[in-house]
Amino acid sequence: MQQNTIQKRQESEENDSVRLKYRPLSCALDFDKCRIYALFLNNIMKNIVVLISGRGSNFEAILRTARSEDWEGRFGLKIAAVISNRPLAKGLDAVAVDHKAYPTREAFEEALTAAIEPYKPAVIVLAGFMRILTESFVARWEGKILNIHPALLPLFPGLDTHQRAIDAGCRVHGSTVHFVSSVLDGGAIIGQSVVPVLPSDTDETLAARLLPYEHKLYPQCVKAVALGEVKLIDGKAVMSDEVAHHLAIFWRKD
Ligand code: GRF
Repeated sequence: MQQNTIQKRQESEENDSVRLKYRPLSCALDFDKCRIYALFLNNIMKNIVVLISGRGSNFEAILRTARSEDWEGRFGLKIAAVISNRPLAKGLDAVAVDHKAYPTREAFEEALTAAIEPYKPAVIVLAGFMRILTESFVARWEGKILNIHPALLPLFPGLDTHQRAIDAGCRVHGSTVHFVSSVLDGGAIIGQSVVPVLPSDTDETLAARLLPYEHKLYPQCVKAVALGEVKLIDGKAVMSDEVAHHLAIFWRKD
C-alpha cells in the first residue's frame, strides 16, 4: 500500500516535470491567445479619422477629451488617424494628402479616400478642413462625416460668420456640429453651443469667446455619433432627449 503511494507520488512528480517542460509551449499558446484577443479588440474598436487644414485646435480638443475620458478603454473608440490637406498643418503624426499635388478635386478625393479607407472609420471628423467635398465623397460616408461650423446654423452658413452675427445685431452666436451633406453647411444638426454677443465685440473677440465652446461641443458630438447615440435617419439627426440636452451647451460666466 505504502509502496503504491510512493510510486504514485513519483509518477505525479514525473508528470509535474513533464508539465514544466511543456510550460514554454503553454506560454506560447497564451501569447497566441493574447494576439488573437488583440486582433479581436482591433476589430471591435471603432476608429475615428480627423481631417484638418490649419490650426487644429478642435482636433486637439477631441484628442484631449478622448484621453481624459479614456474613450479607448471605456468605449472602444480610437482616434486612429489625422489627415491634413496641407503639408504644414499641425497635428499629431498628421498624414498629409496635399490637394495641390492633384490635378482635380476628384483625384484629390481619391487619394484622400485611399488614406482614410484602411481605418474603416466609424466617424470622419472635419475639424477646420477647408476643402469643399464632392457629392460622391459625401455620399460614400453618409451619416459618418461631421463638421463644425462657427455659427448657429441655419443662420450664417459660409464665411465671416462672427462679423455677420455682429452686423445682424444678434445677441447670441454659437457653433454647430452637423452631419455633412451635399449642401454646404446644410446637413442635419447634431449639437450647438451658444455664447453672448456683446456691444463691444469685434469678430476677433467674438471668435475668441466662442472657440472654447466649440472645444466643449465637438468632442461630445463625435463621441455620441461614434457610440450610435445620434444617427442620421431620413436626413434628420435622431437622438434621445437626454443626449440632446448633453449636446446643447451654453456659455457660463466664470
Ligand atoms: C473653427 O472655428 C471651426 O468652427 C471652423 O474652422 C475653425 C477651425 O479651427 N470650421 P481649428 O483648426 O480647429 O483650430
